[in-house]
Amino acid sequence: MRYDDITEAIGNTPLVRIDPAVHGLRTVDLYAKLEMLNPFGSVKDRAAWNMLRPGLDAAVAERAEVVELSSGNTAKALAALAGLHGLTFRSVTNRMRVPELRELLLLLGARIEELPGRSECLDPTDTDDPLTQFHRALADDDSAHLHTDQYFNPRNTEAHATGTGPEIVKDLGGRPPDWFVACVGTAGSSSGVARVLREHDPNVGVLGLVAAKSDFIPGIRTIDEVNEVGLFDPATYDAIEAVTADEAIDGMVELNRRCGLLAGPTSGAAYRGAVRHLRALDGTRPERTTAVFIACDRVESYLGYVRRRRPELLGRAPHRNSPATVTEAELAAVRAVDVPAARRWIEEERPLVIDLRGSHAYAALHIEGSLNLVDELFEQQVHGGLPFSRRQPVLLVCPVGEKSARFAALLTRMGHPDVRSLAGGVVAWRDAGAPLVRE
Ligand SMILES: Cc1ncc(COP(=O)(O)O)c(C=O)c1O
Repeated sequence: MRYDDITEAIGNTPLVRIDPAVHGLRTVDLYAKLEMLNPFGSVKDRAAWNMLRPGLDAAVAERAEVVELSSGNTAKALAALAGLHGLTFRSVTNRMRVPELRELLLLLGARIEELPGRSECLDPTDTDDPLTQFHRALADDDSAHLHTDQYFNPRNTEAHATGTGPEIVKDLGGRPPDWFVACVGTAGSSSGVARVLREHDPNVGVLGLVAAKSDFIPGIRTIDEVNEVGLFDPATYDAIEAVTADEAIDGMVELNRRCGLLAGPTSGAAYRGAVRHLRALDGTRPERTTAVFIACDRVESYLGYVRRRRPELLGRAPHRNSPATVTEAELAAVRAVDVPAARRWIEEERPLVIDLRGSHAYAALHIEGSLNLVDELFEQQVHGGLPFSRRQPVLLVCPVGEKSARFAALLTRMGHPDVRSLAGGVVAWRDAGAPLVRE
């Protein structure tokens, strides 16, 4: 294989069968589409290149900056592609949650702009989210930039309809699989592949996977973020199911240790989600079932993610106090207070108010007198024991009241007598018209 430039190496990724002795399904042939073997390391290489190409000549002539709202793989691919063509790249995001990716972007020469928004993925219906506002402002901005616009650009989907999908059909001998499974971020890969597979057979089943409520799996939406936005069309999917971060890591470790696939957590989520869904169908049809899932990217960037969530996998002592271990019963017992009750309590007893959001979100708007302890840092503190006196009542605050409830349950288990969670979080506080201050 000899190429004139690295973009020619994008696509044509292998389709590899997972050993049935590992996945355990008797009548299913399960394959991984190894998008992690693209040159910049992920499924997003195809979309990034396809979105960038049409505007490239003009961008080079104007020395325009390439801009994208991405904190992960799209940004990585665009940074490399921009550099290849002598252009600069700016990544705009709500919160860079994978430090290795952030450093890699800086190494590639990218400019990173973090905004105080709430969600991982762009939600244009959330008009208060600074990411949405930035997205709108880009359309009016007449400075020299090339905005690839991955959440709305049809060339994102098209990259997979012309590449990923047809490659799968070809490698399966001209027939589409019975099931196609993919994690959903912008929805470009799942909708592009699904469209092509259904042109071959309208009965192909499509399973979309998202992260469980308030759980974080890098690069994909949470179940709360699933709405009809941009390229996402619910009609694409026969089912949308949630995978927990723990399931994603378990799936990833099985791919790493048993299948020789050095794939990351989203691949693990796709694998685990596929096996869980297909288990219910196993043996119900006379013929064998063929299924394909996408192995989106590689594991190396996620060692910090694994260290924080599952230190025992890296030979470290497991965390004694982790919010991931909170049970449904503990959650149900949490004292979740609504906005009027929280305001009265603050007025009368002056609890310590801890805001678990990112520092940008906190700086933009917060409850007066609250202390900002970003959830990841707070979690590390809690691993070592209660970070404040038992005599100090505490009100925990997060974006929508889910994370704070989980931490409240954990602190209660650790022996704190009076920790409460703001029901509905800062969003409910704001919607109730309660005062918020700016840094
Ligand atoms: C690791 C990873 N997996 C899956 C996806 C989802 O892909 P898509 O945006 O095509 O839905 C992304 C998107 O950035 C990703 O970074």
